[in-house]
Amino acid sequence: MGAMSSHLETLDTALSSIHASPPLLALLHSLHTQALTEPAYISSDAQPASAALDRFVALEPDKCAFVYLLLRATRARFVVEAGTSFGLSTIYLALAVGQNVGSGSGPQVGKVIATENEPTKALRAREHWAKAGEEISKWIELREGDLRETLKADLPEQIDFLLLDIWATLALPTLKLVQPRLKIGATIVADNITSAATDYADLLAYMQDPKNGFRCTTAPYAGGLYVAVYVGQS
Ligand SMILES: C[S@@+](CC[C@H](N)C(=O)[O-])C[C@H]1O[C@@H](n2cnc3c(N)ncnc32)[C@H](O)[C@@H]1O
Repeated sequence: MGAMSSHLETLDTALSSIHASPPLLALLHSLHTQALTEPAYISSDAQPASAALDRFVALEPDKCAFVYLLLRATRARFVVEAGTSFGLSTIYLALAVGQNVGSGSGPQVGKVIATENEPTKALRAREHWAKAGEEISKWIELREGDLRETLKADLPEQIDFLLLDIWATLALPTLKLVQPRLKIGATIVADNITSAATDYADLLAYMQDPKNGFRCTTAPYAGGLYVAVYVGQS
């Protein structure tokens, strides 16, 4: 069985762990199906980033479900997403943030800061969020442009969750921008940590050095999903 068909077969199982309205589940099903049936894109010299312009390059459904559940478990309300593309993973982040805000006793605030530097991708993301409805879109602030600039200022005081789903060489610069605002106990997730281990070498060296304040493990999803908790710098 190919990787694509195996992901399609697990789509319903992944979606069964998501608490969402039937129309939103149908939208997620449709977007994942489109994403899983597009030609695969692996960032490399042979496939430059421009080759990904018309592709989702999205997190697979089981990873999205895992990320959604992590956010619910940790009651995350302030989230940064590095790499938004067509906004599929962002829908899960916004869904969880909205549910966390709605079920908490604290202030009714929360936000997903999404980032995308390709205008055509940002446009598609906005279209998908509009289809998802106000209950999703109202939690998302899309910062268009190079995230090394757009994440330099106006970050929330405390960030609960960082999703690193960006070209691997940008992961460490992104983490360093966000780290001063990570709350103790914040979760960081990075995709394809095993399959792109060479490109992630600087990120891995940084996060595995205990003095930088992270405790990490790799969850055995396709390509390896790095999961870390920020425990604070000593
Ligand atoms: C793997 S895709 C994100 C997929 C998305 N998280 C999902 O699961 O639906 C990575 C995205 O990062 C964007 N990107 C690459 N370099 C960037 C940069 N410097 N600033 C902002 N976005 C960037 C790419 O255009 C691409 O759409």
